[in-house]
Amino acid sequence: MQTIYYDLRDTKGQQKEIEDKISAAAKILREGGLVGIPTETVYGLAANGLDETAVKRIFEAKGRPQDNPLILTIPGQQWLPRYCKDIPPLAYVLARKFWPGPLTMILKCRTDVVPSIITAGLDTVAMRCPNHPVTLAIIREAGIPVAAPSANTSGRPSCTTAQDVLEDMDGKIEGVVDGGPCTVGVESTILDLTCDPPRLLRPGGLPLEALEQLIGPIAVDKAVVSPLQEGEQPKAPGMKYRHYAPKAPVTVFTGAPEASAREIARRVGPTTGVICFDEFAHLFPQQEVHTLGPSNDKLAQAQRVFDALRTFDNSDVSEILAQCPDSRGLGLAVGNRLKKAAGFHIVESDSQRIVLGLTGGTGAGKTSALNAIRELGGEIIDCDAVYHEMLDHDQELRNTINATFPGVFGPDGKLNRQKLGQEVFAKKERLDKLNAIVFRFLIPELEWRMDSIPDGLYAIDAINLIESGLDRLCDRTIAVTAPTELRVRRIMARDNITEQYARLRISAQKPDEFYRGKCDLELNNAADTPEKFQREAKKFFERLVEALREEKRHGNK
Ligand code: TXA
Ligand code: MG
Repeated sequence: MQTIYYDLRDTKGQQKEIEDKISAAAKILREGGLVGIPTETVYGLAANGLDETAVKRIFEAKGRPQDNPLILTIPGQQWLPRYCKDIPPLAYVLARKFWPGPLTMILKCRTDVVPSIITAGLDTVAMRCPNHPVTLAIIREAGIPVAAPSANTSGRPSCTTAQDVLEDMDGKIEGVVDGGPCTVGVESTILDLTCDPPRLLRPGGLPLEALEQLIGPIAVDKAVVSPLQEGEQPKAPGMKYRHYAPKAPVTVFTGAPEASAREIARRVGPTTGVICFDEFAHLFPQQEVHTLGPSNDKLAQAQRVFDALRTFDNSDVSEILAQCPDSRGLGLAVGNRLKKAAGFHIVESDSQRIVLGLTGGTGAGKTSALNAIRELGGEIIDCDAVYHEMLDHDQELRNTINATFPGVFGPDGKLNRQKLGQEVFAKKERLDKLNAIVFRFLIPELEWRMDSIPDGLYAIDAINLIESGLDRLCDRTIAVTAPTELRVRRIMARDNITEQYARLRISAQKPDEFYRGKCDLELNNAADTPEKFQREAKKFFERLVEALREEKRHGNK
């Protein structure tokens, strides 16, 4: 099918030509076809809302789940009684004030008029009157209500330009009407008026504050602010689907803009994509960056958020880290779209979480130092253990290793460690290759694990703390060092080995100077017993944690 493009960006020109295009689009709709239409929020994919066969094609073109109902779009409140019943006076109050505009109202449905494919079998229907002259003219001319979900392929970020619509729908629909870029940029606010008090089902282009100012307190549906638990049903069925998601995993950083920018800057690597406010773009010279506009301009952020997410869909960044605005005004909707794209993987940048990275050679006392952190209530993340756990369970990691080192997984699915060892220890390039794969998978996994406790104290225990790039997760890195003679005696006693072998093992490792030079701090262990060193280490970490908490309190203001 050829998708016809109707350019209606400029409606001040040739009146006849404009009317012809509007008539053509209306005709397609009347005849059961699909047309991409502009609205002030996002582009819609329209079909005759009373024609079941036409509406079915919307679901097919979008790949949309059948249990997700559609919004019925009408040219004004006069049409409400045709499709709704028991309409509360409040609906008219809201329509008078906010229509045409980015507010969708859920009302009781005339089920004998509205096909059940629109409502997905519910006894309510979503009604909207968009504020876009072109679309209002098309609907009026067609003389029918149109079913119009957002024009994106299901699961992808919504479309804010006609080009976005073509990217997803070219060849699948009869036409696209270009009415210019959307002026609001996020979908309409959905308010359920079938309950008392009214309930916000989806934050959108009309700020919650504007509604509350007119009608008083509004309940906010749980699906707006948190991920759903298994088996839980949101009031708006569409809120349960993974949404707006680019291919790369997204992490959202809340908190004051300075704090979230700093937190992102600490975590980025060369293949990270960044979504940030304009002021902070300069912090990421190495990264692919899409800006959201100034941190104090929520309208700009709403206009750009989907474009930023969509653009990353066509890039091969390995992860996306995004700054999130506060939830006032349009910020609630912008933040909701980002958080949904992130599957609600959120880092609170204002958090008091502290991460220490410990490294050092054998016999220096790293184990005692970690015990001291445990005594202070800290959780130890043993990278080697996490790596081995992932080797058993993370199919993507296993596939990647197997593609590079074929045959290292046995027929029982278990990793043949000896074989992998032989492969990589013979040649440095191979070891580097394996490490690159492991670190690429390990770092996001560790971040994920730590993000669950925003106020906790963590210590990362990793031999290759610096080489792996794990140090960028840490607030401070600490080299545990000790005089060589002491280390020799300790490992002789600990591992019951000869002096010669102990010296050999120490000389096979990196010298203390390496760790000293690469870490932020040094914890030198000249104590004569492990217990004594542990006590010293505890004092050292106690002071350090206190200083870091203080630093965070100030930094986050
Ligand atoms: O701004 C907008 O509203 C855009 C433009 C194109 O008008 N449309 C839009 O439609 O966002 P869509 O289909 O992408 O999202 C509609 C949302 C879905 O989450 C759906 O579950 C919910 O509205 N919805 C539809 N009917 C409902 C009903 N009867 N009760 C509760 N939620 C409903
Ligand atoms: Mg949608």
